[in-house]
Amino acid sequence: MKTVISLGGSLLQKVDIIKKYADVLEELSKMHKIFVVTGGGKVARDLISMARSLGASEVVCDTIGIEITRINALILSSALKNAPKKIPRSFEEAEELSKIYDIVVMGGTFPGHTTDATAALLAEYVKADLFLNATSVDGVYSEDPKVSKNAKKFEKLTHQQLVEIVSKTTAKAGASVVIDLLAAKIIERSKIKTVIFLGDPENIKKVIEGEKIGTLIES
Ligand code: UTP
Repeated sequence: MKTVISLGGSLLQKVDIIKKYADVLEELSKMHKIFVVTGGGKVARDLISMARSLGASEVVCDTIGIEITRINALILSSALKNAPKKIPRSFEEAEELSKIYDIVVMGGTFPGHTTDATAALLAEYVKADLFLNATSVDGVYSEDPKVSKNAKKFEKLTHQQLVEIVSKTTAKAGASVVIDLLAAKIIERSKIKTVIFLGDPENIKKVIEGEKIGTLIES
């Protein structure tokens, strides 16, 4: 099975945790072809806000974010015994490297979106069987669970329902979005089977092995 994992930068902050991700990814790569797209986390956000205060344009801010996501990719790759130490800068390069390596880690590609969308595009490009959005919440909710007590977690959604939910949340300033709207639209147009879940190392293993956690998106 070919799987693309979007791994939020906030999940990659400690050596011990990075080692756990590496162990799980190596174990899974014995049976599956794995692609990981790493996010930028707090470091990217802080540097982007610093650059913005200094007058940088949004596209330059995005470029700073992309560089940080690539540094995170190199850090995770360093923890893997058999993954390329050259981080692919495009989907073409990632696919080429996947012919040699069972795990390929990359960061962002071009300005204008987050690594959720990069990972969704990569899933489209390599025709992945499964797209995993390993994030800091345990699934998709009807409303922001940090704000509303009535928020209900969905076990399952169609691609179209996901786009509707993300569109509503994105419209509110400052709301935390479980997946980037562009990523939701990409998985919708290509009907890519997706799971959005709390991205602990153990959960990645469980999801790939078919255990039901998080929210499954299927049409
Ligand atoms: P992230 O994917 O880390 O954004 O990319 P995020 O929303 O902060 O995600 P988490 O918190 O890690 O899950 C960091 C920034 O890099 C730029 C964007 O500005 C994004 O906000 N970026 C990243 C791009 O412009 N293009 C890419 O392909 C990837």
